[in-house]
Amino acid sequence: MEESLAKAVEVLRRASRVVVLTGAGVSKESGIPTFRDAQTGLWAQYDPTQLATRDAFIRDPKLVWDFYEFRREIMRPAKPNAAHHALAELESLFPEFVIITQNVDDLHERAGSRRVIRLHGRIEENKCYDDCQGDPTLVDVRTLTWDHDAGPPTCPHCGAKVRPNVVWYGEVLPSAELEAAYDASVQAQVMLIVGTSGLVTPAANMPYRAQHAGATLIEFNPVASALTSTVNIHVAAPAGDSLPRLVAALKASHV
Ligand code: OAD
Repeated sequence: MEESLAKAVEVLRRASRVVVLTGAGVSKESGIPTFRDAQTGLWAQYDPTQLATRDAFIRDPKLVWDFYEFRREIMRPAKPNAAHHALAELESLFPEFVIITQNVDDLHERAGSRRVIRLHGRIEENKCYDDCQGDPTLVDVRTLTWDHDAGPPTCPHCGAKVRPNVVWYGEVLPSAELEAAYDASVQAQVMLIVGTSGLVTPAANMPYRAQHAGATLIEFNPVASALTSTVNIHVAAPAGDSLPRLVAALKASHV
């Protein structure tokens, strides 16, 4: 086992409070492109950061709705990969363990993780643009009939357009989730950082908060990220390889 992974095992053997921050990299081996991967095909000419905004939706609701329908189509067949399953197994090895994810897919939950804080929403859900019945006013579009060629359906309560239940650029994160993520970060003895470029705040602030409060940071990413210069240990390998080996080594050492 390479040195970084051995160090990670040593640190985790002594920990009881562990938090994990995941990004799109943990779902890459499930076939879901990371957020900054070049968009394929029809969407290649669009910059996702220009589509995932309120302004873009107000300007062209059909374009943004179709972009999310495209992403949902890619995500639908995706299955949890070895990294998701390893993280679900890790949860049972520590008295306190929570995953904070920036991802909008549900692969952590489908792998069996029970404590998952979703900072950026859930792409498989939709809601009223105006949250007319409270935040969020979820809308089950399967119960609606509308002209799909015309773009999104309208809210059955108020007639406003329906939008994906995800956080767009420039929007605030759900306050309860954000608070829970900060609390978990400052109480952690160890933070695992898996598959994120560390470019988008406030999610990317969590490692600094954790480290400032005394946590050891262990990054799992094949390449360097914006966080690599800050972390204590960098395991430079795909999460689908490194995390299962970490779990096996921890189990062998009877954590
Ligand atoms: P990015 O696409 O920015 O970064 C993905 C990271 O995963 C990169 O650092 C890759 O090197 C790494 N990676 C790729 N394959 C991997 C593997 N097999 N194992 C481990 N790591 C791997 O995605 P995020 O950091 O998640 O926000 O992006 C953060 C946020 O930016 C997203 O949640 C989204 C976007 O704006 C919103 O939608 C609000």
